Amino acid sequence: CGIIARIGHGDATETLLSGLENLEYRGYDSAGIAVQNGDGVKVRKCSGEVDQLKTSVEPRLHGNMGIGHTRWSTHGPPTDANAHPHTDTVGDVAVVHNGVIDNYDELRAELQAAGHEFESDTDSEVIPHLIDEYRDRHGDTERAVRETVETLEGSYAIAAIVDGEERVYAARKGSPLVLGLDDEEWFLASDVPAFLDHTDEVIYLEDGDLVVLEPDSYQITDLAGSPVERPVDTVDWDPEDAGKGEYDHYMLKEIHTQPTALSNTIEGRVEDGDVAFEDLPAGTFSDVDTVQFVACGTSYHAAMYGAQLLRSAGVRTDVVRASEYASKTGPVDDATLVVAVTQSGETADTLDAVRKATDRGARSLAVTNVVGSTAAREADDAVYIRAGPEVGVAATKTFSSQAVTLALLSQRIAADVPEAAAAADRETMLEDLTDLPEHVETVLETTDAEGIAREFHDSDSYFFIGNGLGHPVALEGALKFKEITYEHAEGFAAGELKHGPLALVTDETPVFAVATSGDDEKTKTNAIEAQTRGAPIVAVCPDDHPLVDVAEVHLSIPDTHPVWAGLLANVQLQLVSYHAADLLERPIDKPRNLAKSVTVE
Ligand code: G6P
Repeated sequence: CGIIARIGHGDATETLLSGLENLEYRGYDSAGIAVQNGDGVKVRKCSGEVDQLKTSVEPRLHGNMGIGHTRWSTHGPPTDANAHPHTDTVGDVAVVHNGVIDNYDELRAELQAAGHEFESDTDSEVIPHLIDEYRDRHGDTERAVRETVETLEGSYAIAAIVDGEERVYAARKGSPLVLGLDDEEWFLASDVPAFLDHTDEVIYLEDGDLVVLEPDSYQITDLAGSPVERPVDTVDWDPEDAGKGEYDHYMLKEIHTQPTALSNTIEGRVEDGDVAFEDLPAGTFSDVDTVQFVACGTSYHAAMYGAQLLRSAGVRTDVVRASEYASKTGPVDDATLVVAVTQSGETADTLDAVRKATDRGARSLAVTNVVGSTAAREADDAVYIRAGPEVGVAATKTFSSQAVTLALLSQRIAADVPEAAAAADRETMLEDLTDLPEHVETVLETTDAEGIAREFHDSDSYFFIGNGLGHPVALEGALKFKEITYEHAEGFAAGELKHGPLALVTDETPVFAVATSGDDEKTKTNAIEAQTRGAPIVAVCPDDHPLVDVAEVHLSIPDTHPVWAGLLANVQLQLVSYHAADLLERPIDKPRNLAKSVTVE
């Protein structure tokens, strides 16, 4: 979910709505705003996207302060009633909430017994009722908000407005909240893009912070009520980067900006044939004997990429799906480095895995795109992938930038770990990396992906296979395809195809075979086995790869070091998914049921 609040001089409604549009990647099941204008708290909310809300804001709401929310449903389906903001019984306290309230059942029962009437199935609705209850008791809203957050168990970022008060109250614990500072107005939001059109001056709030905004002042205190100082940061994202530009979809724009994103990722990190990370000097990892990568979704595939490189450098390495960390991880101690790979830096499963590892003594490192994110702030160290804002729900440029960052990081770590050894062909690898942005540009100039999408877009199923570094690319290719086309797609290690999935292969199931190096025989052999059963083969590899002679169709990638070839193959697969989804008229930037940043477990 995404939340926004605004207070200042002038009208808030337009800012709230455009802020919500910029936050829609966090959820788009329902949306709502509440404003306060001296004539009571007015709420408009509905199921569906912000566009629908905009039409329902007529007649216009006006007020110099308000709150807004765009929802990814957890408790309760995406109905009008379950949309935020929620209010207390009489409607003079309105609240937006991101997170999950674990003790809402008992709180709801207590509040109902005290006469409060509920309208939704959500956990969030207890919050305005609690504020109202405590306000009645103490006659002091700030104290009521403080007591409310002390009563809540679980995670929250909340913003509240109250009838008759020119104030926005907000608090956070376990869910992101950032304060934006402009000359004439203050903002609060789950993420910076919500208000980047207005200001780049921000304060990243910490868990336990309680904020009171008034038109000309703001105050941050801890839960005990003592003032706290938080530094003001300047965000270096350009509002232009967060827009769609000339492209039909954010996803297409983000695919096409990969050369720039990658140049930024690499800049200053390869020096004199060596890898350098500003904040991770030589010796940083000399006490590390095991590295555990934790991640979800696309980031997990990038983590597999990095893990394979680190393992082949001789470092004991594990890669675990963050949601499975508790049950799937091996021994952890102070010689363990847990690397959280998360573009948003806010994925609850990933944050939880890191906390579990650090509780057991591990040291932590976040690899993320978002400065000031929870992962970056909680981890002992943070490395930024510098891909710029990504809005399309299906991750594209952040995968590429993560994989490159992790490839470099694997070299940096291996250089410190005594039993590890640098890659034998490291020099060529680093040299070829400097050409990667240009090679991506070459792939983007090809047009075959669209033709292939057209040829195959009404197939029964789609399989993606790859071996070694081609395996995470195959998995990512399939994930992208299913996310945005809603067609069945699966990725497999090439050699596994014959151990079960081959039963599904027919002449209606194209197999995309990713080959990243000339000696990638396994992928070729397994592709032939699928072809023998009728499947059309799409080879995704350099022109001189033997797979090209076997395949029905070829998606070409420039010849480069095998470590980077997979990333070029991935760009071709991104284009296939995009064009297939476009032909199927899917809502590419906002696939059903998904959200870009999932801040609940
Ligand atoms: C969500 C998104 C995925 C993303 C995953 C991890 O599930 O829909 O696209 O890969 O979260 O996100 P992160 O921000 O941790 O990389």
